[in-house]
Parts: sequence; structure tokens; C-alpha cells
Amino acid sequence: MSDLSVELTAPNGHKYTQPTGLFINNEWVKSKSGEKITSINPTDESEICSVYAADPEDVDAAVAAARKAFKGEWRDMASTERGELMYKLSQLVEEHKETLATIETWDNGKPYSVALNEDLGEVAGTLKYYAGYADKIHGQVIDTTAAKLAYTIREPVGVCGQIIPWNYPLAMAAWKLGPALACGNTVVLKAAEQTPLSILYFANLIKEAGFPPGVVNILNGYGRKAGAAIASHLDIDKIAFTGSTATGREIMKMAAINMKNITLETGGKSPLLVFDDADLDQAVKWAHIGIMSNMGQICTATSRILVQEGVYEQFISAFKAHVAATSKVGDPFASATFQGPQVTKTQYERVLSYIESGKSEGAELAAGGEPVKDVNGKGFFIAPTIFTGVKDEMKIFREEVFGPFVVISSFKTEQEAVDRANNTTYGLGSAVFTENITKAHRVARQIEAGMVWINSSNDSDFRIPFGGVKQSGIGRELGEAGLAAYTNVKSVHVNLGTRL
Ligand code: NAI
Ligand code: MG
Repeated sequence: MSDLSVELTAPNGHKYTQPTGLFINNEWVKSKSGEKITSINPTDESEICSVYAADPEDVDAAVAAARKAFKGEWRDMASTERGELMYKLSQLVEEHKETLATIETWDNGKPYSVALNEDLGEVAGTLKYYAGYADKIHGQVIDTTAAKLAYTIREPVGVCGQIIPWNYPLAMAAWKLGPALACGNTVVLKAAEQTPLSILYFANLIKEAGFPPGVVNILNGYGRKAGAAIASHLDIDKIAFTGSTATGREIMKMAAINMKNITLETGGKSPLLVFDDADLDQAVKWAHIGIMSNMGQICTATSRILVQEGVYEQFISAFKAHVAATSKVGDPFASATFQGPQVTKTQYERVLSYIESGKSEGAELAAGGEPVKDVNGKGFFIAPTIFTGVKDEMKIFREEVFGPFVVISSFKTEQEAVDRANNTTYGLGSAVFTENITKAHRVARQIEAGMVWINSSNDSDFRIPFGGVKQSGIGRELGEAGLAAYTNVKSVHVNLGTRL
């Protein structure tokens, strides 16, 4: 075995070859400095393996490869052929999904059934969806006068830097690669240092699918080094980022250096409103999915529940009972598990600190509020936590926690619900529960958010645009709207008779 891969056996017994290098020009290389990142299993805090971490010099090499590919055969490849490569990649993801889901669960801690059926389904589905778009991206002919023919061409932006988070490592990569490749761009993608492994296995599939060298380059590396080198690189044309609002703001500043095109998908504190005419049983079940799935590590998690006073007590008791019955915390490879560990010790401690904050600010702890230590005596497990009687000025009502942690408060009128839902610097997701169709649409229009779910929560779909307003981001991913972020419109004016 070369020193750029290791043979591993995952906790579920699955054996596979884990690449450990940087993927540049369809080849595996070491980082120039030799620096590495050690990946930790959040279930038992053991080391899985170490992979090379890119420095700015390695970013330069990846960008040079991407630039060369952009100027070369990729740019002029027939769009249908580009789509075929993407389609092949989506098929390879299907074929390798057990291995990919195993790595995802081992490194991230998410339940295996979720990784396999939801995350990997999303990855294959998103790539296939955008594969179909590759040869359907076209401009317009714009009629002005008989003396002019004008048309537009939708051109790729160029070399795209993509920085992704750890909560859905492969799915976030697919959300970004799909539209970028369909539009004919080349990519330097950096995975999150907390979950560096699955993307390296995926990189081999890119090569196997037949993408020309340099079209997709994949790096691991620390945010402040490799991430910052990408965001501030003078030969990168666009940056797409998903992660915290604080880092998004830094990236926006760095991207200003050469006025990069930017797409940012950042934090949220998404409200879920339950009106007293809602189907309460459904509201309870969706509210649970909306905050407790993926260990609460979802940017659109509906983490602030506002319930109309007539059904407030009833909602709380039904919600507590449903969480207790459904949110089984345990080993993510066990089939009965709904909730695995938080991704890292840092995230675990962050959630615990918000529990302390909730208690000290006088909110009522209705469930959870402590680590779970009985899985194997180790790991970053936290009991699903519910605070009730939460006031708008409390930190736990205002800040993104990113854990199995929800705050519940009551409201009197529709206007109050809308005002308090909007009283936040964020504007990503939102949910409204009512059986009154007129009220549902009226409230949906008034909520300041990129997405509103009526009578559900977080049932996102790669065919539907995703993104935020206010400090939740800029631009849209997914759906047809996701293509706009990866093309520039060129206008061609043809003079058919204006003579001077
Ligand atoms: P982060 O936003 O710092 O990290 C996300 C990505 O950005 C990673 O790939 C990281 O390496 C990179 N990065 C970090 N600093 C950078 C810099 N200066 N320049 C360029 N790239 C940089 O998020 P982190 O620290 O992992 O998590 C902190 C909080 O962020 C979470 O508790 C959660 O509230 C939020 N978050 C939101 C996500 C979302 O889906 N919107 C995903 C991950 C985190
Ligand atoms: Mg890990």
C-alpha cells in the first residue's frame, strides 16, 4: 500500500481503502508541508486515521490545475458529454453508497440508515438532476429592432472555490459540484477538517467517471489556512461557502480582493409556528424532525418553536412524549438509533454551554439538558433538550446552537407570531402549522426567510431552491435557481444595418 492510502475496517466490519492525500489533477499527492489532520470518531473519541492538510502552496497547485482544465478540453466539451460524465458519477455514487455511508457515519456520527438512505440518496440525486441540466443551459435571442440581432450566452464563471461544512459532508459537496459542473466550471473544493474522509473516497469516483484532470480538485485543510487561501486567491473567480455566519462574513471580505462572485449559505434560527387550529399530532412530529434530525446540526433546523397559547400546554406535553419515544440516542451504526453523537468535542461543548446559558437565564428545562454517557462511556452524546417558557431576549432564543436543542415559547395573535418570528438577524428556514389555507399563505408571505414549510419542516428537495435572506446568506443553491450562481450572462449585439 502506498503512503497515500490506508486499509481500514469500520466499526460495522466494512473494509475499504481510504485515500489520505490531496486530489489534484486526478492524482493523489502529499501536502508540501507534510501537515496532517487526524480524523476522530465522535462515537468513542478514537482516532480513525490522518490525512494530508493543504497549505496555501497546495491551494496554488490545485488552482493552477483547475485553471488549466478550464482553458482546455473541459470548456469546449459538448454539453451533453459533460452531462454524461456527471450521470456516470451519480451512478458510481449509487454503486459505492454502502462504503460512502459507512465512512460518513464513522467520521461524522450520523445514523447509518440516514447516511445511506438520505445523504447518499441526496448526493446521487443531486448529481443526476444537474447532469440533466448540462445541455439545457442556454441564453436568449432578444428582439429589439430590425437593425439589431442580440443574443445572450450563459458562460461558466471559471475556477470555483467551494468550502463545505461537516454536517452533511458529501451532500454539501454534491449541492456545490452539481451546478458548477453542469455549467462548465472547474472546481477546487475544500472539505471541513472535522470530516475529511468521505470526500476522498468520492474523489476516486470522479476519476473513474472519466472527468478530465483538473476539473475537480479536492483538498482537506484547516479553514484559516487552506480555506482562507481559497477565499483570497487571485485566480479563483467564484467562492461558494456553507458554514457559520461569522466565517461567511470573513470569506466575503477575503473574496473582495478580486471581487469574486459569491454564494453564501450560513446560519439560522428558524422559527416554527403552531397555530391553535393546527393538526397538533402532525405539528409535533414534524417539529421533532425539524430540530432533532442529524443531531440538530442542520442550518435550517426549526430551533425556535412558537405555539399559540390555546394549545401551548398540550403541544409541550405531546412534544416531550414524542421526543422521549422517538429520539433514541446511541451508537450510530445500531439500527434503532435516531440520534448519534455531536460531530466533535467542540460542538458538544458548545451545546452544553447553551444548556448552562438557558438555565442561568431562567428558562425552564423540560427535557434533556445533559450529556448521555451510557452508550459506551465515551463519545459526544447529548440528551435531546427542550427549554420552555423562553423569552425573546434570552441567548438561547437568539443564537444558533446547532444541536438537539429546542426552545419553545407561546404567542397570542398572528401578528405577534410573525413579528417575533422575524425578530432575528437570520432568515433561512421557517415553518407554519395551521389547517387554515388562507392564514398559511398569508403568514408564509410575511415571514422573512428564504424557505417556508407549510405543515412540514425541513423536507428540502434538490429540485427546489435553497438559501437565506438577512444574515443567513446570499444566493440560492439547488433547483434551476442554483444554476444562476455558476454562470455569467454574456450579451452579443450584432449590427444588422445601423450604418454611420
Ligand atoms: P465554520 O463556518 O468555521 O466552518 C465551515 C467551513 O469553513 C469549514 O470547511 C472550515 O474549514 C471553513 N473555514 C473556517 N474558517 C475559515 C476561514 N477563515 N476562511 C475560509 N474558510 C474557513 O464552522 P464551524 O466552526 O465548523 O462550526 C461553528 C458553527 O457554525 C456551528 O456551531 C454552527 O452554528 C455553524 N455551522 C453552520 C453550518 C450550516 O450548515 N450553515 C455548517 C457548519 C457549521
Ligand atoms: Mg470525525
